[in-house]
Amino acid sequence: MDRGQVTADGCHVEVYLLLPPNGEAEIVHAAVPPGASILELGSGRGRVTHPLLGLGHEVVAVDDSPAMLAHVRAETVCARIDDLDLGRTFDVVLLGSHLINTERDEDRRAMLATARRHLGPDGRLVVEWHPPEWFDTAASGQGGQLGEVTLELADVVREGDLLSATVRYSARGQRWDQEFTCRRLALDEVLASADLVFDGWLTADRSWFAARRGDKAKS
Ligand SMILES: C[S@@+](CC[C@H](N)C(=O)[O-])C[C@H]1O[C@@H](n2cnc3c(N)ncnc32)[C@H](O)[C@@H]1O
Repeated sequence: MDRGQVTADGCHVEVYLLLPPNGEAEIVHAAVPPGASILELGSGRGRVTHPLLGLGHEVVAVDDSPAMLAHVRAETVCARIDDLDLGRTFDVVLLGSHLINTERDEDRRAMLATARRHLGPDGRLVVEWHPPEWFDTAASGQGGQLGEVTLELADVVREGDLLSATVRYSARGQRWDQEFTCRRLALDEVLASADLVFDGWLTADRSWFAARRGDKAKS
């Protein structure tokens, strides 16, 4: 059976089209100046991009999936994040969807180098991640509802700093599985190695934070 288009990292385009925004754009908007220009890394089909446009931001959306980008109503760049160099900087770089928790250290280094390269002198990097405590509490059977999509975590396995699991999405009588492995991170170390410094939590559950360029660290 045709299960629709799937991105290189295993996201089902069909599912992302059904998933509504979940307040992500409002978190970003509250953390940055009005009208700030935003480079969104891993934008997908524009689930967060479109509300950001509605909040008055200019957004450049980057993704390596043409199938996702076909739905984005903003300037798009179809490219890997890792070696992206647009030759310009932004007020804000957004790295959402826990991409920073990739199990591959070299991919994380490359993504953060891209983020750093595109941050203006006073720019702010805004990140959504799995905080360390999530690795202790994530469990099979947890889940929720987003719009018409039911989500459930299954097959959770821990091995050292790594957590592997499957997210089960169901809607309209269909089910889609996405397997993933993510890594628990020591944040200060990760940021320092990319010449970035922590610049505050954006949500009480610590699943969003901001960072600045290391050369602009505020005392
Ligand atoms: C989990 S989806 C989230 C999409 C969007 N941020 C959202 O919240 O709806 C992750 C997206 O990042 C893209 N992606 C993941 N790794 C990437 C990479 N290294 N370079 C470019 N795109 C990447 C995938 O193609 C996918 O569209």
